[in-house]
Amino acid sequence: MSKDSILIIGSNGQIGTELAESLRLIYGDDHVVCSDLKQPETIKGPFEIIDILDKDGVYSIIKKYSITQVYLLAALLSATAEKNPKFAWDLNMQGLFNILDAAKEGLIKKVYWPSSIAVFGPTTPSVLTPQYTIMEPNTIYGISKQAGERFCEYYFQKYNVDVRSIRYPGLIGYKSAPGGGTTDYAVHIYHEALKNGKYTSFLSEQTTLPMMYMPDALKATINLMEAPAEKVKIRSSYNVAGMSFNPLEIAESIKKHIPNFEIDFNPDFRQAIADSWPKSINDAEARQHWGWSPDYDLQSMTDDMILNLRKRMQ
Ligand SMILES: NC(=O)c1ccc[n+]([C@@H]2O[C@H](COP(=O)([O-])OP(=O)(O)OC[C@H]3O[C@@H](n4cnc5c(N)ncnc54)[C@H](O)[C@@H]3O)[C@@H](O)[C@H]2O)c1
Repeated sequence: MSKDSILIIGSNGQIGTELAESLRLIYGDDHVVCSDLKQPETIKGPFEIIDILDKDGVYSIIKKYSITQVYLLAALLSATAEKNPKFAWDLNMQGLFNILDAAKEGLIKKVYWPSSIAVFGPTTPSVLTPQYTIMEPNTIYGISKQAGERFCEYYFQKYNVDVRSIRYPGLIGYKSAPGGGTTDYAVHIYHEALKNGKYTSFLSEQTTLPMMYMPDALKATINLMEAPAEKVKIRSSYNVAGMSFNPLEIAESIKKHIPNFEIDFNPDFRQAIADSWPKSINDAEARQHWGWSPDYDLQSMTDDMILNLRKRMQ
């Protein structure tokens, strides 16, 4: 059993719910402390109420459990952030500083902080977007993630902070609900297909975006965190790719299970955000440095989503 003790901040969210399960299988229930603004409906292992903006509160939980690694997931996501830009900036940046400082001060040994494909913008080459390229994000979420990446690298270079990060694409899973992002449609569509046989997409039919099935996102996250430090050569954030598709293509994959499924389109403010993001991602560095490769493509993800959502609805 590893001596590491992990704190997940923002554990009630789409990623945290599933990441906690995976980390508890590896480290044991007692070595993974979950935390969020509110208690979840069911609690399996240790849980603490934490506001990431309360630095003293965070530090006292870190000390209470002798935490060695923090996974910082608390943030405002792309669509929600556009509605409250000032608060999004404060939460996304100050939250990160509080954890980077805890590592700088020697309180914890390792930090995981997710970035996003939102760091790219309309001037970025949009097909097979490389790791190093033009980055002019035009959403407050993307701006905060890009600034966060710069600070992660800065804390690594200046203070030797062992911080690791992935630029997640849109994430899709059946165990938890999405938290206000531009790619949420790709989760809602499965639920609506099974419940009502139809779905109205808030993105237009040709909007191709990079996406990833949650088991692949968990695999990437844990593999990066467990990689020997010398293999983690990028300390801003790694490109990782799973698959790319548009609403029409995901609908076609669902029709293989539900032939009468119908989709129509009613784009809203999230269309402009999606239009500023890449269509596909080049993840050569993640593959070379720490052996990343995804397991799922669009159809295998759809097959698994439908199978598991059907089981849950019985
Ligand atoms: N889900 C995706 O598709 C996706 C894609 C790219 C990047 N990311 C990044 O991954 C991280 C987690 O995303 P998610 O989808 O799980 O988000 P989510 O919105 O589902 O969950 C975030 C959690 O943080 C909690 N939280 C909010 N403010 C807090 C605070 N002040 N203190 C403590 N907890 C607080 C929320 O209650 C929520 O449970 C975020 O940094 C997000 O930007 C997610």
